Amino acid sequence: MGFVGLVTASCFADRGFKVIGSTLDEEAVKLINQGLSPFYERELDPILKRAVQNGNLKATLSNEEAVLNSDISFISVGTPMREDKSIDLSYIENSSKEIGRALKNKDSYHLVVDRSTVVPGTTRNIIGKNVETESGKIMGKNFGLCMQPEFLREGNSVYDTLHPNRIVIGELDKRSGDLLESVWKSFYGDAHIPLLRINIESAEMVKYANNCLLATKISFANEISRICEILPNMDIKQVMEGIGLDDRISPKFLNAGAGFGGSCFPKDVNAILAFAREHHVNPKLLSTVLEVNDDQADHLVNLAENLVGDFKNKKISILGLSFKPGTDDIREASSIRVINELIKRGADRIIGYDPHVDGVTEKYLKKNIEYAQSAEEALKDAECAFLITEWDEFKSLTPEDFKRLMKTPNLIDGRRIYPYKQFHKELLFRAIGRNDNKK
Ligand code: UDX
Repeated sequence: MGFVGLVTASCFADRGFKVIGSTLDEEAVKLINQGLSPFYERELDPILKRAVQNGNLKATLSNEEAVLNSDISFISVGTPMREDKSIDLSYIENSSKEIGRALKNKDSYHLVVDRSTVVPGTTRNIIGKNVETESGKIMGKNFGLCMQPEFLREGNSVYDTLHPNRIVIGELDKRSGDLLESVWKSFYGDAHIPLLRINIESAEMVKYANNCLLATKISFANEISRICEILPNMDIKQVMEGIGLDDRISPKFLNAGAGFGGSCFPKDVNAILAFAREHHVNPKLLSTVLEVNDDQADHLVNLAENLVGDFKNKKISILGLSFKPGTDDIREASSIRVINELIKRGADRIIGYDPHVDGVTEKYLKKNIEYAQSAEEALKDAECAFLITEWDEFKSLTPEDFKRLMKTPNLIDGRRIYPYKQFHKELLFRAIGRNDNKK
């Protein structure tokens, strides 16, 4: 019942399906059963409330209860990154074993669907096998198996669930695929959502290939942005606008900036790299995608160093800590890479501000930093500011605001939200993908 599970469950229940959601988190069960979400996700609250009030959604601590009282089990557990950057499948192991143990006591056919992102081979060889071993039943006979990757964006996951641009079903056999297709057909009614039925291993790989290509587009934009910084006037925004009009390319995911973060891109590119290497394949492009992404933080700090010199004893403010606007999630956020690089280079007065993040602990940072309650407070008397997350409230800051509040108005625009010419004229300003200071 994390963000994928709870959003899917709530949307199903809101459309009349009976849903039982299981989780090991006691607090989450209590909250959900009162119609409250244990975390913030845009547009989820009213749907969850309705789903619980109409009696269609119930949360439980018992996986067995959930399995015995349903026809289909969707697995939506976390598959985090281990210390060595490979995938941690322990939640997958546990939940598939529990489904198996419960199925031992169920006579009717049951469909198991994996929604978690897993390296190819996992659904059949771990989930399917665990269910068989624990239940004593046979895959393809007593129970069916599918892998259906999810493509939900945090902050938009309700919209993405209700209006997906496609459904990909990886099926063990026709019966499994038919059942899952019928569920989605009845969920979407007349809406025509492209639906692809393929084998399980390809479906597992679709999710990785999808995220790898999006991450590649971002690193591509970041790499081109460096070239754009060679000569005055060359501007990454204009260049990407130009190539985005080619409908073979599309303008999406071509925003150069502080780099990608979040719970998916870094984890998934690393996981598929580790998987490939384990099997003696060395994906050079993908390792470079990560390298380019990491370099963006160093590059932003270089831009600042050129402006302010030594960081010691200077107040430096970080505007935006979450990995993107619209969420309070800081996992793998660019802000963390930038702050750690600043600390490495001697910065000792860093102050962060984010409208939805209270602070980032030392778990992520090399040492603790200070936090402000507003952009104004963060900028007050600062000698350098970094714009890292493009929250709307930062977009309305003017050159006058930076001049009025800061000791020296050195500003690094890590997301290209400010009009370049105006800011460059009025402030000590550097931005990703344009450098008019060079002769
Ligand atoms: C992503 C995928 O979009 C989604 O399909 C998948 O299921 C999970 O991973 P999410 O991590 O929620 O979703 O965020 P997304 O909006 O894709 O952004 C990811 C990161 O890329 C953010 O840090 C964002 O700032 C960065 N980004 C995105 C760019 O730097 N430039 C862009 O052009 C787009």
